[in-house]
Amino acid sequence: MFHIVLWIYTLLLVSNSLYADQGNGDAVRGKLKAIEERCVECHGEDGNSVDVKTPNHAGQIAGYLIKQLLNFQSGERKHETMTIMAADLTANDIDDIAAYFSGQKVMQGEGSIDNPLAGNLMLNGDQLRDLPACGSCHGEKGKGAVKNNVVYPVIGGQRKVYLFQQLQSWRMGERKNSPEGVMNKIAKSLQDEEIEALADYLSRL
Ligand code: HEC
Ligand code: HEC
Repeated sequence: MFHIVLWIYTLLLVSNSLYADQGNGDAVRGKLKAIEERCVECHGEDGNSVDVKTPNHAGQIAGYLIKQLLNFQSGERKHETMTIMAADLTANDIDDIAAYFSGQKVMQGEGSIDNPLAGNLMLNGDQLRDLPACGSCHGEKGKGAVKNNVVYPVIGGQRKVYLFQQLQSWRMGERKNSPEGVMNKIAKSLQDEEIEALADYLSRL
């Protein structure tokens, strides 16, 4: 009996993490909606964006995209264009668009180069500063993870200027929608040259 209960529990855990990765939206409708709402004009039809300031969504975790769109709607995350773009989306639109983009082939940089400063922060962090390794949350290659219902977005293969700007704005406290302000704490202890190095390094993964 105990074994059966354990099995059911494990199955529930597994299905829950699948849900968090891909969402339960309708990707076919999501594609039509992303075209109709003009999302693809900036974020690309395959989720690879058209310029370095605009984030890729290709293979991004659905739960992360959903959270960001809800945060733009509620004002917890601010951006002139995205506040307007997100305003009229229904909860279904959001789920469907997220399902579409998360189902695209995951964003991929042009190949890593040797970058000890960034590589070390990614894999080891810095104990002296109480700075955890980026990879411990975002995955060793930055391809994202879902743990205990917290969604850690894909950052490996993301656009370089976008990454740079986000790290700056976490540091300045302009963006403050991460759970318990975790990214603000992390970015505050980063130096300018580390942010530059990380943006370059991550965008190539
Ligand atoms: C005119 C260009 C443009 C259009 C159209 C547009 N976006 Fe964006 N989007 C951006 C930019 C630029 C950002 C980065 C915002 C920032 O710097 O904080 C962004 C950010 C986002 C993010 C956050 C991604 C992340 O990695 O945190 C999501 C999700 C998103 N957009 C979804 C959409 C959806 C869905 C639509 C269509 C309804 C849409 N966007 C339309 C330019 C655009
Ligand atoms: C303790 C876990 C944790 C660690 C360690 C961590 N992050 Fe994050 N990070 C998060 C979470 C959670 C989010 C999502 C925030 C949200 O929901 O808006 C995030 C978001 C981000 C984003 C925004 C992505 C986007 O598409 O807008 C960037 C960039 C980022 N992290 C970079 C880093 C870098 C670089 C490091 C290492 C110096 C790092 N993170 C370490 C938890 C972490």
